[in-house]
Amino acid sequence: MSILSRLFGPRTPPPPPPVQITYKKKGTIVIHATIVVRDEDGREMIQPANQKPLPKLCGCGKSEIPPFCDGSHKTAGRG
Ligand code: FES
Repeated sequence: MSILSRLFGPRTPPPPPPVQITYKKKGTIVIHATIVVRDEDGREMIQPANQKPLPKLCGCGKSEIPPFCDGSHKTAGRG
């Protein structure tokens, strides 16, 4: 253990940078990060291939593949 660690305690790593999330008026929620979405039983929900690399979540409630956006907001009168 270094003298600094003894004097000031163990060094804690800096917090990770904040994840940017863009909420669009249409309802789409774009996450500017790599994420893993799991259902309530812990199973990974596979992100649609056309959404890579940025995942898009549905905020309009019209998606056929929730929680991901499938573009249904465009015909649901929101965009
Ligand atoms: S936001 Fe796109 S389908 Fe809901």
